[in-house]
Amino acid sequence: MTAQTLTLIQPDDWHLHLRDGAVLGRTTKDSARQFGRAIIMPNLTPPITNTTMAMDYKSRIDAQGSGLEALMTLYLTDNTTATDIRNAHDSGIVSGVKLYPAGATTNSTAGVTAINKAYKAIATMEELGLPLLVHGETTHTDVDIFDREKVFIDTQLAPLVSHFPKLRLVVEHITTKEAVEFVQQSNANIGATITPQHLMYNRNHMLVGGIKPHLYCLPVLKRNTHQQALQDAVVSGDDSFFLGTDSAPHAQGAKESACGCAGCYSAPVAIELYAQTFEQLGILDKLEAFASRNGPKFYRLPVNSKTITLIRQDWQVPTSLNYAGDTIIPLGAGETLHWKLQD
Ligand code: DOR
Ligand code: ZN
Repeated sequence: MTAQTLTLIQPDDWHLHLRDGAVLGRTTKDSARQFGRAIIMPNLTPPITNTTMAMDYKSRIDAQGSGLEALMTLYLTDNTTATDIRNAHDSGIVSGVKLYPAGATTNSTAGVTAINKAYKAIATMEELGLPLLVHGETTHTDVDIFDREKVFIDTQLAPLVSHFPKLRLVVEHITTKEAVEFVQQSNANIGATITPQHLMYNRNHMLVGGIKPHLYCLPVLKRNTHQQALQDAVVSGDDSFFLGTDSAPHAQGAKESACGCAGCYSAPVAIELYAQTFEQLGILDKLEAFASRNGPKFYRLPVNSKTITLIRQDWQVPTSLNYAGDTIIPLGAGETLHWKLQD
């Protein structure tokens, strides 16, 4: 008989955008319903570039009382100093430093314009064992958007990793076969997060039969052979790959626009989406390692002591949600899912 419940060590989200202000109530609660901890992305306006800002942001998150443990990150710039990195490390609240190539994505204009400008900061991270979390896309305007991850790996990431062989590094939200292979061929100090959308969808889902703006995120969905490579990576059980939703809320109007924002809001249904995908791949038994064990191992943290239980039950993802008085469309809106988190 097929199992009717699935109990897992409580998962964590190793890549999350909570935003700030009035929406924090919604975003922290949606993540906390399933996740124990989350790596909080620093791409606010202005970006979180130092430890004082990270502490203030963390208190605003904690003030929501959601129970989500916020693991903070700093936003790397051309001007981040070795002292900034030491302060972050010594604070005990910063778990990583995010590298956005300038102009690559939402709120990345203050990002790094050339990686060598950040070498002093990165050298200190290597020394202290503080992970570098990388948005791996080149920003060269002449590089096709579908090739930006591959070109970044060849021209930026590979040289970075050979220059800093002991650097602990996460290739965030990987989308291509080349990224999977890069991580597989690297040592244990290099890991990668995989989002639900990049496992579940390819660019046909986004573009055939009309543009689906709610599937638009960065790095953009790729062709199905790349989706297949990501699925093969989780099927392999390689512990370098772990859960990171990249849940990135934007109000409905900002998505359904002539110049729509990038990001999928998966937090309200993330663990159910992963469970459904893992079941379709025949690897439900590998969900706990991907969602709850591999990330803590990389970040050198204990696994959570709580558990969560999913029940086999058909239910429909809400078609829209309230977003601090505005509206937001969750990933999978209106779709029927077969697993539901027990309240
Ligand atoms: O789709 C995305 N949305 N990709 C990113 O890298 C940033 C994120 C956001 O902050 O909206
Ligand atoms: Zn992100």
